[in-house]
Amino acid sequence: MIKSLGESGVNKILSSFSSPKSPDTEEYIKDRAIEDAKRGITQTHIVLAERNNNWIFVGYFTVMPKTLFIEANIPTINTKKTILSLATFDSDRNGYKVPATLIAQFSKNFSNNANRYISGDELMDICLGTIKDAQMLIGGCVVYLECENIYTLKNLYKRNGFIRFTSRPHEEGEKRTGSGDKMIQMLRIIE
Ligand SMILES: CC(C)(COP(=O)(O)OP(=O)(O)OC[C@H]1O[C@@H](n2cnc3c(N)ncnc32)[C@H](O)[C@@H]1OP(=O)(O)O)[C@@H](O)C(=O)NCCC(=O)NCCS
Repeated sequence: MIKSLGESGVNKILSSFSSPKSPDTEEYIKDRAIEDAKRGITQTHIVLAERNNNWIFVGYFTVMPKTLFIEANIPTINTKKTILSLATFDSDRNGYKVPATLIAQFSKNFSNNANRYISGDELMDICLGTIKDAQMLIGGCVVYLECENIYTLKNLYKRNGFIRFTSRPHEEGEKRTGSGDKMIQMLRIIE
């Protein structure tokens, strides 16, 4: 997009994004997405829907490769065997390091009611499809995310195949999405 529209053209599109319940996702796409993409840290994918010959910016997600750390004593989950087959044991931390894809940002665009044109499930379908395409080329099968301890968010991820594997307290200064008291970590295997 930057190559074809130029950075100011892309910025113009991104600046129209709004997500009042998730200030972090709004700030990220407006202030950091382009820089992180240029530096190869993350890649942000914007999702457009066509309505009456107009393209509407309906949502986005940001993904990045990241090592997932799983404590040795986490309860058994049905994907544990697959996960451990990819893992390296870290004796210092008493847990497993697993190469994975992190969904770092995920939000519909609430500006001008654009959110009406996509559901969270549809956005997740596109996100997982994109990750699957990348994994088909380079390998890997684990995807994970962190979300606030909020029922609707956990439920969205659960019905899209994610399993909660642990949680952590908020880090100091960490921006919060809503009023959850901790961050829930959830993962799934993409087959
Ligand atoms: C999360 C999201 C993709 C789900 O989309 P969806 O499945 O189509 O569901 P909706 O947008 O209709 O939201 C469902 C409910 O969750 C609530 N909700 C959504 N995001 C929320 C958040 N961050 N904090 C608290 N509640 C939230 C909505 O207000 C709505 O509540 P209601 O049913 O009482 O009106 C979308 O709501 C969104 O983009 N939210 C903002 C970004 C976000 O929170 N991302 C997750 C970061 S982990």
